[in-house]
Amino acid sequence: MSLLEVQDLSKRFGGLKAVDHVSFSVQEGSIKALIGPNGAGKTTLFNLLSGVLTSDSGTIRFNNSAIHTLQPYQVAAKGMSRTFQHIRLFTHMSALENIMIGRHIHTRAGFLSGMMALPWTKKEEHAARARSLEIMAFLGIADFAETEATSLAYGQQRTLEIARALACEPKLLLLDEPAAGLNMRETAEMARLISRIRDTGVTVLLVEHDMSLVMNISDEIVVLSYGQKIADDKPLAIQKNPEVIRIYLGEDDA
Ligand SMILES: Nc1ncnc2c1ncn2[C@@H]1O[C@H](COP(=O)(O)OP(=O)(O)OP(=O)(O)O)[C@@H](O)[C@H]1O
Ligand SMILES: [Mg+2]
Repeated sequence: MSLLEVQDLSKRFGGLKAVDHVSFSVQEGSIKALIGPNGAGKTTLFNLLSGVLTSDSGTIRFNNSAIHTLQPYQVAAKGMSRTFQHIRLFTHMSALENIMIGRHIHTRAGFLSGMMALPWTKKEEHAARARSLEIMAFLGIADFAETEATSLAYGQQRTLEIARALACEPKLLLLDEPAAGLNMRETAEMARLISRIRDTGVTVLLVEHDMSLVMNISDEIVVLSYGQKIADDKPLAIQKNPEVIRIYLGEDDA
């Protein structure tokens, strides 16, 4: 069953077709990768999926409902959460607090009632804290719960961003370049981590330039070039696809 179905999606910035009639689907329980040269439209596509940008045309169906007219918080509430290409953590807050903010949409206590400290909010905060620590332990960063988020090592900050996204208990997790800036060992660790997340039942769509990571863990790969989809297949077929080889050779002799 496909959890996400993108049909004929387009987005222009002035005269530039950043996403140009793109269609693809993501099967529930799979890891799908979205690759392509710089400027291919990958992040723009993520912004469309998560409601940060509104498409010019096309449809996005997620978990059997149309989401392309929704606001980001509504998309998140439906079970899609994401990380960003450039790390976005709150400064002057601990790693744990950063995760609890991500969890906020799952607690009954909204922002206002939280500030009024209604009796049941304490209980919910306690549960949110426990679940956040559980997620940190699962990702191997529980030791840093009380550490200021922005003082963590770069790789730990990337993992913390994933923890925050997981705190929304998503069905679909969008990861925009989770291995960017990581060394080889950290990248291999990140690959294992993403596979383990999928094994818990979370479907993953990831943008990534590191081909070893992409080829190792993806069930399927979509290739974008200048906003257009040029391939959508299993890793081995993608590696042999002449059009894909051409755009990558043209880029940097990869
Ligand atoms: N808000 C914007 N306004 C105008 N142009 C934009 C905007 N966002 C992206 N673009 C342009 O759209 C194209 C696609 O950009 P996008 O960031 O989606 O690429 P990408 O595939 O994520 O690239 P990278 O691998 O470098 O992250 C680029 O030409 C970019 O300059
Ligand atoms: Mg990008």
